[in-house]
Amino acid sequence: MRERSGTPAPRRRILYGRRRGRRLRSGQRELVGRLLPALDIRLTPGEPVAPAALFPSEVDDIWLEIGFGGGEHLAWQACRNPGIGMIGCEPFVNGVARLLAEIEARNIGNIRLFRDDARLLLAELPEDSIGRIFILFPDPWPKARHHKRRIVSEPVLSHLARIMRDGAELRMATDDPGYLEWILDHVDGHEVFTEVSGADRGNRTADWPPTRYERKAAAAGRASAFLRYSRRPRRPS
Ligand SMILES: C[S@@+](CC[C@H](N)C(=O)[O-])C[C@H]1O[C@@H](n2cnc3c(N)ncnc32)[C@H](O)[C@@H]1O
Repeated sequence: MRERSGTPAPRRRILYGRRRGRRLRSGQRELVGRLLPALDIRLTPGEPVAPAALFPSEVDDIWLEIGFGGGEHLAWQACRNPGIGMIGCEPFVNGVARLLAEIEARNIGNIRLFRDDARLLLAELPEDSIGRIFILFPDPWPKARHHKRRIVSEPVLSHLARIMRDGAELRMATDDPGYLEWILDHVDGHEVFTEVSGADRGNRTADWPPTRYERKAAAAGRASAFLRYSRRPRRPS
């Protein structure tokens, strides 16, 4: 089956969510100033990012989390998979500060951070470079006029298809029935992704810890869906 031709890369930041919540406490500000410079991914116009070079020692693979919130899932995956280079994208500075506290407390060395619109980074990552991607509880933007703000979209899926290795896994979760339908339409309908969660969409796998938003949804009585997709091989063997 033919893959879709590339969609133009978004070069302009179009962020709709919050970048900042409550003012950071002085300890958090100190942590950001001290830890962030070494972990921060900065884009240089026209220069693609070499993801493996972001890490001080050789990594077995690169995984990416888009919209990590408070970072508890990212930190868990990083500790559990020390050979993997983890890239987390999150523009919300309070979430970044929370993750930095975790990185320091658990002495985590395999996380790098992109603190802006993930789509800007996606456009600069090389083809065939990422082994796993997590998009957990993305902002649902439930009003029809806001659907164009959803991160799950054709341009983003085209980038994911391009940067994911053959057989790489895409994990997504949502507690919003309308967004679930949207994801199924967009991702199941995309020729390079095959759903592997099957009948088990109601359960996380053992290597998938809960996030803050999942807990909030459960406390409010909302069920979540957990979706896993595999990127089809580029050349069928
Ligand atoms: C509903 S929260 C979910 C957070 C976390 N994944 C969880 O499950 O607890 C969605 C997160 O996506 C982030 N986000 C929204 N748009 C984004 C974008 N374009 N790039 C990266 N992150 C984004 C928001 O700042 C927010 O932290």
